[in-house]
Amino acid sequence: TQRPYVIDEMISAKAIAARIETLSREITAEFKDTDKLVVVGLLRGSFVFIADLVRELDLPIEVDFIEASSYGDAQESSREVRILKDLRSAIEGRDVLVVEDIVDTGFTLNHVITLLQSRKPARLKTIALLDKPSRREVDIAADWIGFEIPDEFVVGYGVDFAQRNRNLPYIGKVRFTP
Ligand code: PRP
Ligand code: MN
Ligand code: MG
Repeated sequence: TQRPYVIDEMISAKAIAARIETLSREITAEFKDTDKLVVVGLLRGSFVFIADLVRELDLPIEVDFIEASSYGDAQESSREVRILKDLRSAIEGRDVLVVEDIVDTGFTLNHVITLLQSRKPARLKTIALLDKPSRREVDIAADWIGFEIPDEFVVGYGVDFAQRNRNLPYIGKVRFTP
């Protein structure tokens, strides 16, 4: 059973949308000469972010997904990343943008980058909506970051707490109530 908690808004839907507009312009400029960029979402957490992001990209793209899991229903990273679903397309020689919701310890993004690099893409870039640098255990940084956040338990906009709250339209922080 879950301890009772409330969710306090931390980043509004409006602020997220504004940030995505800016990031999309940068990404569109970076990949403007690419004939077909592969945008790879890491399921499940990135499904909301990637949906909003790709609709702002003025580029020919393909959308693909990897399912990676390290937390399950736990609050603590297992530090062991499992690939539950791999890409459909081959990425050798292609430009790839990996889309993550949050980089915490860094184990997930690091694992996925190592896996995809071994397939020899032409270019591999990464974007994460949220970054918690104070929690990092693996030396890794996304090329684009939406928001740097403190070490708070966040939910919403794709991010879950024990598989709940992914459908909140904003990023909130969990506050346990007595
Ligand atoms: C969460 C989150 C990131 C990862 C970040 O995924 O979506 O993918 O953890 O943590 P890390 O930097 O410590 O590895 P989770 O394993 O909970 O799966 P989910 O995306 O299905 O929620
Ligand atoms: Mn995830
Ligand atoms: Mg999760």
